[in-house]
Amino acid sequence: MCGCLHREVFTGATLSPAEGKKKVPASEEAGYSTARCVAFAVARVFRPGDFTAMQSRGDRLMKSIVVVGAQWGDEGKGKVVDYLAGSFDYIARCAGGHNAGHTVIYDGNRFVLQLIPCGILRPGKHAVIGSGVVVDPVALAAELDTLAKSGIDVTGRLHLSNRAHLIFPYHRQMEKAAEAARGAWKIGTTSRGIGPAYEDKMARHGIRVGDLLNPARFREKLERVIAEKDAVCRATYGVPLDTAGMAEQYLELGERLRPLISDVSVLINHALDAGRSVLFEGAQGTMLDIDFGTYPYVTSSNAISGGVCTGLGVGPTRIDAVAGVTKAYTTRVGSGPFPTEMPDLEATEVRDRGKEYGAVTGRPRRCGWLDLVVLQYAIRINGISSLVVTKLDVFDTQKEIQVCIGYHYKGTPLREMPAAAEDLAEVTPEYATLPGWQSVTYGVQDAAKLPRLAVAYLKFISDFLGVEVGMISTGPDRDATIVCAATQLATWI
Ligand code: IMP
Repeated sequence: MCGCLHREVFTGATLSPAEGKKKVPASEEAGYSTARCVAFAVARVFRPGDFTAMQSRGDRLMKSIVVVGAQWGDEGKGKVVDYLAGSFDYIARCAGGHNAGHTVIYDGNRFVLQLIPCGILRPGKHAVIGSGVVVDPVALAAELDTLAKSGIDVTGRLHLSNRAHLIFPYHRQMEKAAEAARGAWKIGTTSRGIGPAYEDKMARHGIRVGDLLNPARFREKLERVIAEKDAVCRATYGVPLDTAGMAEQYLELGERLRPLISDVSVLINHALDAGRSVLFEGAQGTMLDIDFGTYPYVTSSNAISGGVCTGLGVGPTRIDAVAGVTKAYTTRVGSGPFPTEMPDLEATEVRDRGKEYGAVTGRPRRCGWLDLVVLQYAIRINGISSLVVTKLDVFDTQKEIQVCIGYHYKGTPLREMPAAAEDLAEVTPEYATLPGWQSVTYGVQDAAKLPRLAVAYLKFISDFLGVEVGMISTGPDRDATIVCAATQLATWI
């Protein structure tokens, strides 16, 4: 359908000047003026057939696709991955831990998966947890129990990297102490021990999943680490580490996990060699990436597409395309700059309509307008070639919709995303105001049934960014999805 979407840019669905009015006048030097960006977009807009190189590689349609969050996480990747998973053999996760919460709803059942890739919900599909993920075996065992209760058998389908680092209770304990010590500068973490586990990995005293399979080696490593951590904890935070029974508990869990543990880089590369398809499931989002996010208000791993290579042992030449998931608006949880954040009243409305409460922590999410500067940045950093727009229906009652098309910093237009969170906190967004469609898109599965102004909204985004909209989500259910015809994304299904 997005073939139609794109054609309609220049016909019926184009916004009239009155419909698409700017709130803050764009400077000629802005670099983000709508006219310039549309011209730029037209040059780059997807045309069917543009990706024949991808199709012809190896005489078969390569399917090695990354799905990445283009904002601050919670974009609805769970639903998107679940939908696409039906067309892939392997679904693999490369980063993060049980700080993520991927919600999937089908047949009236709601699943929140934190560690296990959503692909596990599809019979016969393989789900892979890569070496870049940090694994709390207690959380993983709980997730396995939940799946078993729902009758989902993971035998022979779930694979856990022997190189993935383990999260221990002391990581959570140290994180809590560190967040408390930061006071007003706290990051607002999910308190799952994610950051401290990655710290240990980089400091080269982490303990890995594979260590669980050798009890003597595991005990020896754990003793060494505990002695060091206990000393640090007492000296820094004045509290001892509570480690009673930890080694036994972890070794027991290791035995339970033993059948799942392997070298998953070998597994995935062999699968690709054999012509199987792989969907790489991103966690968190671009703006939470440790290197390219709003540092230090970020998570501790590479949430961008590059994380697939380092977190799964898959070379960049093996990846064909990247889909970026964005909501029709923006949310973030935790602290940190958020240029398009809405005032309280508007944020409350969107939060209630979009049920914007954390899937893991239940925290209310901060809500704001769609930020095309963020998406432009995400497209560059991840190499996104197709966009998925989720939660379109949340705007069904909205009279007017604002879209950020540029930033101004101390009166000067910014051409690129500032590196410093302090600078991003001071930018003034430049908005285009678009008319709302004020009719129901909830549950729509056919692009032809979308209201004209909803199509215009999507086209505005696509044209500005110069990237196709390949999929649209109109509700939480698996079926409330539109796959846009004649797009790159449509060929993956
Ligand atoms: P951590 O990942 O628990 O260390 O938290 C660091 C920051 O990332 C905090 O602002 C969290 O709210 C945010 N964060 C971590 N995981 C997610 C996620 O899955 N969705 C949205 N935000 C997240």
